[in-house]
Amino acid sequence: MTTQNNETNQKAQQAGQESSSFKRVRIFDTTLRDGEQAPGATLHPEQKIVIAKQLAMLGVDVIEPGFPISSPGDFMAVQRISQEIHGVEICGFARSVKEDIDSAIRATEAAERRRLHMFLSSSDIHLDFQLRKSRQQVIDIARSMVAYAKQFVERIEFSPMDATRTGDEFLFEIIEAAIEEGATIINIPDTVGYAMPEEYGAMFTRVMNHVRGGKQVEYSAHCHNDLGLAVANSLAAIRAGVTQVEVTVNGVGERAGNCSLEELVMAIETRKGALGVETGIRTEHIYATSQMVSRAMSFPIAFNKPIVGRNAFQHEAGIHQDGLLKNRNTYEIMDPEKLGVPRSMIILGKHSGRHAIKHRVSQFGVELTSEQMESLYVQFKELADRQKVVQDHQLLELIGHTVNEVLEPYTLVQAQVLTGTEGHRMSSCIIKDNRLGKELVCSGTGDGAVEALVAGIKQALPLDVQFTDLELYSLSSGEQANGEAIVTVSVEGNHYRGVSVHQDVLMAVAQAFMAACNQAIREHQINEAAQDAFSSEDVEITIP
Ligand code: KIV
Ligand code: ZN
Repeated sequence: MTTQNNETNQKAQQAGQESSSFKRVRIFDTTLRDGEQAPGATLHPEQKIVIAKQLAMLGVDVIEPGFPISSPGDFMAVQRISQEIHGVEICGFARSVKEDIDSAIRATEAAERRRLHMFLSSSDIHLDFQLRKSRQQVIDIARSMVAYAKQFVERIEFSPMDATRTGDEFLFEIIEAAIEEGATIINIPDTVGYAMPEEYGAMFTRVMNHVRGGKQVEYSAHCHNDLGLAVANSLAAIRAGVTQVEVTVNGVGERAGNCSLEELVMAIETRKGALGVETGIRTEHIYATSQMVSRAMSFPIAFNKPIVGRNAFQHEAGIHQDGLLKNRNTYEIMDPEKLGVPRSMIILGKHSGRHAIKHRVSQFGVELTSEQMESLYVQFKELADRQKVVQDHQLLELIGHTVNEVLEPYTLVQAQVLTGTEGHRMSSCIIKDNRLGKELVCSGTGDGAVEALVAGIKQALPLDVQFTDLELYSLSSGEQANGEAIVTVSVEGNHYRGVSVHQDVLMAVAQAFMAACNQAIREHQINEAAQDAFSSEDVEITIP
């Protein structure tokens, strides 16, 4: 299996050398058009611009930023993206009607490179029930509208909508008509996610071989995920020779969504040898892009989603943890750090074995005798039986019991937040500096309860900690569900994550924040500085 990576190829290209023998597949991103059609995923123009910049940095080849005729906001977003984003082809989307085409052409006028993407239904079911037009009428529309658009733009992508339920005879006819009038890219969409991989690949082969002019154009695959086959179908199309694949970040889109960018790209990247192709995606930006899109669209990512789901690189089974610690490749086929995923994580729970616990203990810089390790293991298993996951701060507490020492630099002893519909939120906390054995009383305010809590806790800490990220999950349903908080903080450019579960979601946040800060403090070994910064007297900070 070939393991040559993108970086190597890019470097080779930069050095002006012959690139690898892999054929380049172009990534056409339609997160901001087809992806935004997902129920509830609407974006403001400003959000679209930010995401488009991120997509350009990720290395996509084409961005379809919206449907200009659909709203003034979408028109403006496509226009601004055409003006501001460089190095990427911008695609205006249109039905096969003059007003749509005019609008898409105007919106993309300023783009460095642009294309028009126009579509027209081709299946009988769409013709009979939606368009209420005969096949001949549809061919006439395809011809006249492609010819009309060709006056203004050279690169025209034509999509016969619902192509996979159209049947060869009419599909060939409509594609031939579009090519004759000037279409340069033929996209064959599996609009309803109906195709099987072999069928979809074979359909491209037939079109390429039998359609008049079929060898002069580029081909594109566009797959929906109704049967969970969007990535498999796109790969089948690549095997058949398509040079472009249409995808969305996190697979967002109508119904079950579109082909997921990160899954397709990583399948290509990981199995390049088997597929013989490569993309220009800078994989290190995948995770950040996925997070950005998920947040902007308020569209959560399933825990077990490949590549970007929170469990995608977590390991709980003892046998897996053991193998992983000996050699990562035993249970990981991708390096999460190359995707920008914080890191592959060993989750300590009831399935974890001694090996994993010992490893985590050593990461804390603690050495235990075999007797101490055995006693820790017994305590750990008791705790793990009662709860799903043993968190780092809990393990540290158990280690502390074992060695008769408190290992966390700081402990959150108490926290209270005053919250409501009006005014500032206020918090007061008691934090114990375990090294000095002193309790610090702090308070904070903020526009929200989390802000007030974080402001309070920060006052007791000897580090300038930036609260960079918060993920909140409900671990079950109902009012009494436990909330899980994952907090990321950064200190001098380094990131630390703390996790906590609590029935009170604000306390979960406070503890997760504390755990992340403790990691930072431990790693930076600044307990000495803490001693200087805080006198041995209690510190009382009151709200002004
Ligand atoms: O799924 C589809 O058919 C589309 C196009 C119109 C290309 O999104
Ligand atoms: Zn689609």
